[in-house]
Amino acid sequence: MVELGEEIVALLTIGAARDSDLDLSRTAEIWGIYISPKYWRRRIGTTLVEEAEGIFKSRGFKNAVLWVLEGNQQARRFYEAMGFALDGESKTIDWGAPLKAVRYRKALQPVEQEPAPGASTGCDAPGPGWLPKPLLARNSSAE
Ligand SMILES: CC(C)(COP(=O)(O)OP(=O)(O)OC[C@H]1O[C@@H](n2cnc3c(N)ncnc32)[C@H](O)[C@@H]1OP(=O)(O)O)[C@@H](O)C(=O)NCCC(=O)NCCS
Repeated sequence: MVELGEEIVALLTIGAARDSDLDLSRTAEIWGIYISPKYWRRRIGTTLVEEAEGIFKSRGFKNAVLWVLEGNQQARRFYEAMGFALDGESKTIDWGAPLKAVRYRKALQPVEQEPAPGASTGCDAPGPGWLPKPLLARNSSAE
């Protein structure tokens, strides 16, 4: 969550991917991103998605997916600008009326890290697949 004083500017939720056709040990999901309209087109969405991708990569995930309503052209243009592309999957969501959602996917570039001098070469970090199931919220401040 991004707050500016008392105001909530943005909300990002991420977690494990939930689709049975995916390799869940390699794929994470952006569950939702919402920016307060008066802050649109100020790169806040870009910053949050980049933050999410950094978290995914640091946990060993290779791909990110997300679902968006087919008719949400604003969000689709945004995700496409972030390098996501349709992967061919779609589903119908019943929110009182049937709405079609489409899935986007992005291959995550590996993290390039120089090992610190004397650092262990063993891997003691949580391996791929580790990501909290519940909402992962981070607090930060908008500038
Ligand atoms: C989609 C959303 C998260 C984008 O956040 P944002 O902070 O406004 O996006 P950014 O400023 O980082 O935009 C990055 C790029 O995405 C594209 N983009 C963003 N909004 C766009 C729009 N309305 N039309 C076309 N392209 C758009 C542009 O390429 C933009 O770069 P530019 O401004 O240099 O041209 C925001 O509009 C939003 O919260 N929408 C309502 C909620 C929603 O639909 N969420 C998605 C649910 S799955």
